[in-house]
Amino acid sequence: MCGIIGYHGLEKTSDILYSSLLKMEYRGYDSCGIALFKNNKVSIYKNIGRVSKLVTNNPITFDSLIGIGHTRWASCGEVSLRNAHPLKSFNKQFTLVHNGVVENVEYLKEKYFHDVIFNTDTDSEVIICLIEKFYHEDLLKTIFQVCKLIEGSYSLIIIDENDPNNLYCAKNKAPLIIGKKGFSTYVASDIQALHDSPLIYHMEDLTFAKIGKDIIIKDQFFNDKDIFFMPNLIENEPIKMKDESYMLKEIYEQQEVIQRLKAKYLIHNEVTFQDNIKNLLQDFDEVFLIGCGTSYHACLIAEEFFNKLNIPSRSYVGSEASINNLLFSKKPLIIVISQSGETHDLIKTVDLLSNYKNRILLITNEKHSSLAFKLDHVLLMEAQKEVAVASTKTYLASYLLLYFIYLYIKKEPLKQELDILYHAIGNAQSIDYTHIVEMIIKAKKIMLMGRGIDYKVALEGSLKLKEISYLPTEAYLSGELKHGTMALMDEETIVIGLMSNVNTINLMKGNIEEIKSRKANVYLLGCDKICDVFCVDISMLSPLLLVVYMQLISYYTAKALGNNVDFPRNLAKSVTV
Ligand code: G6P
Repeated sequence: MCGIIGYHGLEKTSDILYSSLLKMEYRGYDSCGIALFKNNKVSIYKNIGRVSKLVTNNPITFDSLIGIGHTRWASCGEVSLRNAHPLKSFNKQFTLVHNGVVENVEYLKEKYFHDVIFNTDTDSEVIICLIEKFYHEDLLKTIFQVCKLIEGSYSLIIIDENDPNNLYCAKNKAPLIIGKKGFSTYVASDIQALHDSPLIYHMEDLTFAKIGKDIIIKDQFFNDKDIFFMPNLIENEPIKMKDESYMLKEIYEQQEVIQRLKAKYLIHNEVTFQDNIKNLLQDFDEVFLIGCGTSYHACLIAEEFFNKLNIPSRSYVGSEASINNLLFSKKPLIIVISQSGETHDLIKTVDLLSNYKNRILLITNEKHSSLAFKLDHVLLMEAQKEVAVASTKTYLASYLLLYFIYLYIKKEPLKQELDILYHAIGNAQSIDYTHIVEMIIKAKKIMLMGRGIDYKVALEGSLKLKEISYLPTEAYLSGELKHGTMALMDEETIVIGLMSNVNTINLMKGNIEEIKSRKANVYLLGCDKICDVFCVDISMLSPLLLVVYMQLISYYTAKALGNNVDFPRNLAKSVTV
């Protein structure tokens, strides 16, 4: 899930590439690089680590009409300088940046390069070497022919050392967008990397482009394709490091998200949606929810909401949904949740469900994303840009939109619950978490437990903590304690008990006694006076409040450990592979 950029124009190409890469770091940030023309040769500058280091270490003093850049999240081959992109073909004529996965890399190497030693461990190198192998006069046609051999996903930008005037591109199942501004043309994985281009064009799967003075697009049969640029309506959200990190800023912004969602989806305390979504919500017999990571945890919460409406519902993790035969009811409502709208496993699933396209409702934060582009029923999270890799405000937005769907179906107006939540989040921000942070750091085993919906809170709390603290944590159902997990209880264990559900508090109290008698340390968050942190009971929104507490506990733990909370190791914000 890397980010790629190509530029053709009269601006200083290196500056353009650097600033685009900075905007795409959320797609991966373990290594990066750019390629430019210098004295009629293609020069490559790359480094391990962040883009800021690349910029500082490589001030560029010359101009180049075209250039390409890449920021990497290693999926094939370790993090190293030689595996960082851009990559050259064997004879160095062609240079490539690639986002995606070549699934048949072993087959291609064996068939076309038997006994040849490659320069990198990446799957991408085979693409550029195939292009060199099959190259004839027409590079775009060669790329088209080579792409027919590739199984998997790709967005590619290629430059030819003998052609300093053109960029060559291909796209299949990985995003690639062209932007035009004055004499400049940009092509990138992300609209944010197009330097506020007023005109944009989303390349379709299995299309090919030559970008120079003119732009030529070819379709999957290599016929010319008309190109219609659309106005770029993306709001330019200023992303400023006002606070000490994006993550804390985004946790704090959750109060604003509540207000924005209220303004957008409520009229006189009644939930309202656009007409096509109202129609979709009127005619279904079962609900299927699909998401990954934090968004999957939001799906699990929705099961509880639909359960209260006596509507059967089931949640699937995206990577499983894309490999299993999903058994839908006659009239399913399929809810796909994705903050980025770019998650590969979800795109794959949606493509497989093309017969059900009209029954899919997408909840996303990115209205210009690949998923939003594919689907007609879209609810926007209104969370504004989330930069920190660990999702916080987009979870809150997904949760509240699912709650709005619940209210809409139940035909129930909103009461005071959002106002109470708003103030309770303010309280959560003002608490001193030093004690619990010390307990977590001292412990060898960190467990989060709950019953019913609180188990789903535990899953999200545990994910947040492990993502940024790197401490191994486990979430479990407290009723299952005596069936295995009890074996882990001793004085080196901390158990964070989650108790938003007043109906299960007595059962939880029994579990807590059992844990304490095995000498494990216990810290309780919830709506009962025995809790270390007492949270106001907001009925169906109480679990959300507990998640906000867990976001803050995770944040302060990671800070105390000296970790980079915004860009944790080995992760990326947008998982496009
Ligand atoms: C990555 C992010 C998580 C996110 C998950 C699903 O792992 O780091 O924060 O929950 O992807 O992403 P999506 O964009 O589909 O919600």
